[in-house]
Amino acid sequence: MNISIFGMGYVGAVCAACLAKRGNNIIGVDVSKDKVAMIGSGKSPIVEEGLDALLTEGVNNQFITATSDYKHAVLNSDISMICVPTPSLRNGNLNTDYIHEVCKEIGSVIKEKNSRHTVVIRSTVLPGTVAEIVIPTLEQYSGKTAGKDFGVGVNPEFLRESTAIYDYDNPPMTVVGVLDEITGQQLETLYSDLDAPFICEDIAVAEMIKYSCNVWHALKVSFANEIGSIAKSVSVDGRRVMNVVCEDKKLNLSSYYMKPGFAFGGSCLPKDVRALSYRANQLDLATPVISSIMQSNDAHIERAFNMVKEASIKKVAMLGLSFKAGTDDLRESPFVILAEKLIGKGYDLSILDRNVKYASVHGSNKEYINNHIPHISSLLVDEPDESILGAELVLVCNGDKSYQSILEDLPAKTKVIDLHGLTDNQSEENKQGICW
Ligand SMILES: NC(=O)c1ccc[n+]([C@@H]2O[C@H](COP(=O)([O-])OP(=O)(O)OC[C@H]3O[C@@H](n4cnc5c(N)ncnc54)[C@H](O)[C@@H]3O)[C@@H](O)[C@H]2O)c1
Repeated sequence: MNISIFGMGYVGAVCAACLAKRGNNIIGVDVSKDKVAMIGSGKSPIVEEGLDALLTEGVNNQFITATSDYKHAVLNSDISMICVPTPSLRNGNLNTDYIHEVCKEIGSVIKEKNSRHTVVIRSTVLPGTVAEIVIPTLEQYSGKTAGKDFGVGVNPEFLRESTAIYDYDNPPMTVVGVLDEITGQQLETLYSDLDAPFICEDIAVAEMIKYSCNVWHALKVSFANEIGSIAKSVSVDGRRVMNVVCEDKKLNLSSYYMKPGFAFGGSCLPKDVRALSYRANQLDLATPVISSIMQSNDAHIERAFNMVKEASIKKVAMLGLSFKAGTDDLRESPFVILAEKLIGKGYDLSILDRNVKYASVHGSNKEYINNHIPHISSLLVDEPDESILGAELVLVCNGDKSYQSILEDLPAKTKVIDLHGLTDNQSEENKQGICW
């Protein structure tokens, strides 16, 4: 393919070299004359193992040229990849000026180009940037329509400096977000030799995936450092601890606990998070990540409560009260906290949880339920009666599969807020999930 790459920095130079290695014709574009001169003579503008050799090979084989003439670059390529900086502003927001500038340049050339052109954002951009900045700017300067007259996509880059060429050749996945089918096909062909899943998503989803990955990586580093620091303070080698933690690929390093849903609860997690934070405090150790976990959990419960408030109704039913399906354990169930908030604000509340209802009559939890939360136990029903089916708003709390048929029996006008993810609620107006 003929590809122009805007921005010959860490990402752009590596992409240029790796795409040229695969036989693509690359035109590197940069506002820096020095970088253009270096790339054009096969020299790497950055320190990165193996890059010099690949660039030299690409230039010698006439797969790579470099220019500061963006018009020449767009007219002589089918795809433009944008790899310009997106640095932080002083307030933390993303500076999209470079993206805006380069879209103005590319758009003005698309205006006079007869053949189809595709613009792909490789820079890291916040969700909404392509829709709010890239597409309007390209359309304004080209006078053409995105998705129809020219293609638009995002293709976040996951390489790490110092192992960038290895990472390019061995990605965990290739993620693209596209506006139009042709762009998706072009990118799938471009990356067809990579032994990694090719994931084609909506543009905003792809934009968000990149942030989720980077923030997750940052969180992992901070978490491991906090655990290591607490461990050291109690004369334990944190590396030995984390080595074993990482051995568990079922719960620890896996997709388990990594799905948006409701707050955690139960008899272990809240208690243990509190205890470790308390110990860190006692040791005079700053562990802001661990110390803010309970706060984050509480904020999520508050979010659910606010969603109920925004629905402006009074008759609410909860499907599920125990912290997860298949147990009657109410200790630190976030749904008990939510129920108490709703009762406190005067909502007309009914709760269906067959396990809890059974336990309140027969089980070992009987005393706890009837003595500690009598205000809640009196609201429990054991079948989907009128108070459940006639509610104005139904909250799906835990993931008990039997709630599915109850949801099917609800009148169409009933609002549903799914806190667990039991329903596919994307398409129906009066159904929503807590974080999807
Ligand atoms: N560095 C990384 O490891 C990495 C990894 C993944 C994603 N990213 C993202 O990729 C983007 C680029 O990062 P980078 O580290 O390569 O940046 P960089 O600063 O190394 O390179 C950007 C280049 O763009 C050039 N440039 C600026 N405006 C231009 C214009 N109008 N036309 C042409 N060139 C222009 C600059 O002169 C510079 O050479 C950022 O959004 C970053 O967040 C970086």
